[in-house]
Parts: sequence; C-alpha cells; structure tokens
Amino acid sequence: MRSSENLAQVEEYWSSNPLGSLETPFPEGSKDFFEWHARIRDYDEGDFCQSMYEFDQHSDKKVLDIGCGNGWLVWNFARNGAKITGVDLTSTAIELTKKRLSIYDLNADLRVANAESLPFADNSFDYLTSAGVLHHTPDTEKAVSEAIRVLRPGGRGMISFYYLHPLMLPVLWPVTRLFIQLLFKAVPGRSQFGSVKTPDDLVRLYDGNNNPIGKAYSRADMRRMMSNCRIEKFEIHYFPTRFLLGENAPKVVRVILDRMLGLMIYTKFEKMS
Ligand SMILES: C[S@@+](CC[C@H](N)C(=O)[O-])C[C@H]1O[C@@H](n2cnc3c(N)ncnc32)[C@H](O)[C@@H]1O
Repeated sequence: MRSSENLAQVEEYWSSNPLGSLETPFPEGSKDFFEWHARIRDYDEGDFCQSMYEFDQHSDKKVLDIGCGNGWLVWNFARNGAKITGVDLTSTAIELTKKRLSIYDLNADLRVANAESLPFADNSFDYLTSAGVLHHTPDTEKAVSEAIRVLRPGGRGMISFYYLHPLMLPVLWPVTRLFIQLLFKAVPGRSQFGSVKTPDDLVRLYDGNNNPIGKAYSRADMRRMMSNCRIEKFEIHYFPTRFLLGENAPKVVRVILDRMLGLMIYTKFEKMS
C-alpha cells in the first residue's frame, strides 16, 4: 500500500476517534470533556513527567505543537504565555483545540497540516513538542526531520513515542503477552487490547481497535533519527494504571509501574547549528 493511502487511513481514524473519545463520559468538545481530559492527563502523566513539556518556560517564545489532538498541550502553552502554533492532520482535532481555547479565552495559530510536510519555513520556531503523534504516521523519519527543519538552530524540543520496552523483545514477549491477556481485558474502547499478538499490535491497539498505525522506538532509534541534534535526555514514563487498578491506585504502585513499565519514551533535544 502506498504511503498516501496509509496517511488517508490515519486521517480517517483520528477524525472519527479523536484523543479521549474512546473513554470520555462527557460530550466531546464540552467544558466537562476538557476538564475530564486534563484530569486524567494529570493522573497518567502529571506526577511523573509533565516537567518534560516545559509548559511554563517559553513565555513569548514561538512554540510549535505537532499533532495537537484535542489541544491539551496547546492550551498549556497558551495559558503560560507562549506564542503557540498547533497543527494536526485532522480538522476534528483543530476544531476541538479551538473549542478548548475559546472556553478559557486563549488564542493560538491552529492549522490542519501533515507532520510529514510542515507548512513552515526552515528555522521558524524556538521550541517544539510532539506528544504521542509521529509513531502514528506512515513515514516517521520524514516527520522527525520536518520537525527539526522548522526548529531554529539552538532551538529545543521534546518528542514522545511509544517505547520499545525490553519486555517487547522476542525472548520476553510470550510472558508479556500472557500478562496483558490476563490483566487488560476490559480496557474502555479497546476491546481487542486483551488479545494482542505482537508488540506492534500492543502499541497500535492501545489507541483503539481500528487504529491503522502504531510503532515503538528504542533510544538507539531516537538517536539515529535525530543525528543532527544533541540529545539532552531520555525518560521512560506512562503506564495506564487506571485500566489495571482504577483511579485510586496507591501512589507508590503508580510510581513503580511508571518507572518500570513505561509505555512511552520522552526525548528532549537541542538542534545543532
Ligand atoms: C494520540 S493523539 C495525541 C494528541 C496530542 N499530541 C496529545 O498528546 O494530547 C495523536 C494525534 O496525532 C495526529 N496525527 C497523526 N498523524 C499525523 C500527521 N501525519 N500529521 C499531523 N498529525 C498527525 C492525529 O490526528 C491525532 O490527533
């Protein structure tokens, strides 16, 4: 299948299933929806890695968020005074982001755009983020090189991808798969998640039964794709404890699962001149 056909499938999937839509108890685009989403985002990431985004460190700077989804990152940068631009492949995501900002009387430059071919000149931004996005696009390497192209030399950023965890390596996968099948059968909106067969299935089905593309990356993969950048640090986080133990899991358990079984690799970097 050609890359353009794959991209059309990605666009179709995320248009019908914007982030949060599989589990929200509230109407998409309502204030309740955005408050609920911010709350679960804090629960899943807040205690562990929100500092990786640097929301409060780019006031008056030109910041780009690639694949803005329902606008959680854009909202956080906007309310901290950044000159924030958000792009997403789907108009559904851009409309949701606009709604989120208008509820809080905030502004941003928001555009439908493909991360593999960004509509910005070289060296346009001071800082960029892309959280859980570029592993869903057919040509991830092209999208990473586009992100770096539009960042100014010396500009910095944070990109997160699904992490190729050692538990996904062939020798350990049968055990990992058994645990997933036993423990995760009732994940909301992800009914096939309990029957994953391969590591690729795991990261694809995590975002929904019909999600066409999900890929996982190691530290070495990140270094290779970002060879023209200085890697500041990698951190591994994000374990969906909610789906295993509900929302009242003891903090110590959540910390251990986040540290040991993180599903995402967060990469902070600086573009070399
Ligand atoms: C899991 S959501 C993440 C949303 C947001 N970054 C967040 O963390 O809340 C993935 C988003 O990536 C977008 N996306 C996937 N492929 C893309 C591409 N090639 N260009 C731009 N956005 C893309 C989807 O439309 C979807 O909104």
